Amino acid sequence: MSSTTTQIPYDVKSMDLADLGKKRLEWANQWMKVLQLIRKEFIKNQPLKGMRISACLHVTSETANLMIALRDGGASVALCASNPLSTQDDIAAVLVRDYGIPVFAIKGEDNDTYYQHLNAALDHRPNFTMDDGADLVTMALTKRTDVLDGILGGTEETTTGVIRLRAMAKDGVLRYPIIAVNDADTKHLFDNRYGTGQSTIDGIIRATNVLLAGSKFVVAGYGWCGRGLASRARGQGAEVIVTEIDPTRALEAVMEGFRVMSMEEAAQLGDVFCTVTGNKNVIRKEHFEVMKDGAVVSNSGHFNVEIDIPALEKLAVTKRTTRPYVEEYAMRDGRKINLLGEGRLINLASAEGHPASVMDMSFADQALSVEYLAKHASELEKKVYTVPEDLDKRVAKLKLESMGIKIDRLTPEQEEYLASWSEGT
Ligand SMILES: NC(=O)c1ccc[n+]([C@@H]2O[C@H](COP(=O)([O-])OP(=O)(O)OC[C@H]3O[C@@H](n4cnc5c(N)ncnc54)[C@H](O)[C@@H]3O)[C@@H](O)[C@H]2O)c1
Repeated sequence: MSSTTTQIPYDVKSMDLADLGKKRLEWANQWMKVLQLIRKEFIKNQPLKGMRISACLHVTSETANLMIALRDGGASVALCASNPLSTQDDIAAVLVRDYGIPVFAIKGEDNDTYYQHLNAALDHRPNFTMDDGADLVTMALTKRTDVLDGILGGTEETTTGVIRLRAMAKDGVLRYPIIAVNDADTKHLFDNRYGTGQSTIDGIIRATNVLLAGSKFVVAGYGWCGRGLASRARGQGAEVIVTEIDPTRALEAVMEGFRVMSMEEAAQLGDVFCTVTGNKNVIRKEHFEVMKDGAVVSNSGHFNVEIDIPALEKLAVTKRTTRPYVEEYAMRDGRKINLLGEGRLINLASAEGHPASVMDMSFADQALSVEYLAKHASELEKKVYTVPEDLDKRVAKLKLESMGIKIDRLTPEQEEYLASWSEGT
């Protein structure tokens, strides 16, 4: 349903879904205690008054609560999807109907519509961009340079986006400062490790209903996400195999008790595969050629590039959808390989993404980073910045507060001891 008739422009699937969206948005809000505390402060202090924000994030119930917090902080917000499969249509509808936030996102939208929606979000003429994969920044820097003048800064949610943005800064093409929310400790720990770990397992199970206990589960990439995924798969009773290209990370996986080997070797053993590398073609032709009959292949890393799907298509003689989010590819020799969620992030395609309490941390970082940019953007260079340490600690402190947990403070004697180089003994 595309319209401009209700005062604001939007493009969502159906307004009839808004009532359902309202309930789910409220459910998520219950678990987002840190954002609730920040929202209270925002309502009082209006730190974003008069600011315009265009956000390109997964359109979910948690994102909706971030959008509402920003709006309550005084900002005018527009939202589009950072992934065509992750949009929750009911949430898109309720944001438009009840909160007056322009949303441009429809679950399953094709590539053209996806980019039209990015364009529509930039038509909002933002002062700040919020990205999850750097698509909005990329469009502003290439096809929509008309909006650049108004942009003061931006934030980036995910690892791959940060890598792209750092490359842009290095080549001197980045035109405004970006805060890499992804690099905050409070983001990594909760989102990449605990969030991706749990929700990826959830997505694989919902799509296939496979029993993980006793299976050989191959995790490609032992970074923040990989660590979480490997430990959760082990928790389900799977025999976990890790593949890596970084010797230190590979060693860490070995020391944690995982089997580590090349993908060439793992491909022959695995029952379930999941890539979390941020890299491209991590599972490719030579791996499909040796996989076992019935192997399940999925990705929870970046977009749909980690699995070489064109190679799989070429190898297959037939292909059919056996369950929602499962494509079965039949090989010439009779083996079948099951690709989940078209190779896109499986925790978002067939599950619900991260639990709300995980997104609470990332989005608290997002909200405070935009507040920081609103105050300091003019002092910053056209570079990628990490989240200021005191902001990161503030989020951790708020989370502990919301859990009713008190921690120790340094005594004056300890402060002095730690600050003094002469007291080392
Ligand atoms: N599914 C989600 O909800 C979700 C959440 C957060 C991040 N991500 C994405 O997950 C990916 C990983 O994020 P991260 O924070 O763990 O990054 P990270 O940089 O900490 O880890 C990535 C790891 O992959 C390894 N790697 C790179 N190429 C490889 C290859 N060919 N084979 C094996 N290993 C390889 C790297 O050495 C590194 O250790 C990124 O694309 C990120 O955007 C997804």
